[in-house]
Order: sequence, then structure tokens, then C-alpha cells
Amino acid sequence: MMITLNVNGKPQQIDAEPDTPLLYVLRNDLALNGAKFGCGLGQCGACTVLLDGRPVFSCVVPLSVVDNRPITTLEGLGSPSAPGPLQRAFVEEQAAQCGFCIPGMMLRAQALLNANKKPTEADIRKHLQPNLCRCGTHMRIVKAVKRAAEYTRTAAASGSDRT
Ligand code: FES
Ligand code: FES
Repeated sequence: MMITLNVNGKPQQIDAEPDTPLLYVLRNDLALNGAKFGCGLGQCGACTVLLDGRPVFSCVVPLSVVDNRPITTLEGLGSPSAPGPLQRAFVEEQAAQCGFCIPGMMLRAQALLNANKKPTEADIRKHLQPNLCRCGTHMRIVKAVKRAAEYTRTAAASGSDRT
């Protein structure tokens, strides 16, 4: 089946079985390796991307439901040369240990920042709960999200989406 994926603002045609998990297509067909394969069962959050602006476990989302709906992956949050607020803040807070959970954490955090420009620590903890970090860097992750919220507010105040 031919399907149009709208990933990071770019439409792409994919020929795949309708029950193929979105994660497989992102990684194997589009070389967008930000989203990670952890459990494959919707239980760890390593594969989190945004679909219509909402976080989803892409390992359990079949292609058949995503036709033309906007998808955001880690690669849509910025690049190494122009990191977005979350990417910059995670690096500055040294929030990653092994790093495996971090792309999913960032995408889920982005959904929070889209809805709440000034989240409290409790807001961040609650929102990130579905995503697991085996390395135990939760405290740094929470600090990074707070810092990213500050960057986002500063950028909005100065009329830019990057800081
Ligand atoms: S790999 Fe998708 S939730 Fe674990
Ligand atoms: S940094 Fe290793 S799983 Fe989170």
C-alpha cells in the first residue's frame, strides 16, 4: 500500500504493509534514527514521536492510521548545528547517560512545552512518567526540560524560535 507520511513538515511516499509499525518505517525507510526500539510493546517510550502534536509510542502505531497526519521526530526539533531549545538544554544539563531514552523524552517534553510554557517540576515529572530511563538520570532530565522551557520563553519574547 502507498502511504504519504508527513514527517517534520516533509511529505514522503512509502510503500509498505498497512500494519507496519511507524517506528520501523521511520528508522528503516527514512533513516530517521532518533526514535529508538526499546520494548516494541508500548511500554518504555524509547520510540516516542509526536503525531498531530501528541506523543505516541511509534512501535505500536500502524502505518494505516498515520496517512498525512503530521509527525515530529527528534530530527524535527533541531540539528547538531542549530539545536532546538530541548536539545540544547539536554546537552547543557548533561541529561543523558547511555542516551537511549533521551529522544523519546525530548519528544514527550516537547508536547508538554507546546501546551505549558512554564511547567513546574511536578508537571514535568507527571508528564514524562510513561517514558522510562534505566540509567536513572531523571533529575537531570527534569532540570533540562525546565531549562528548555526558559529558552522557549526567551525565544518567544524575542520573536525567534531558536535561542
Ligand atoms: S519501543 Fe515503543 S514503547 Fe518501548
Ligand atoms: S540515559 Fe540511559 S536509559 Fe535514560
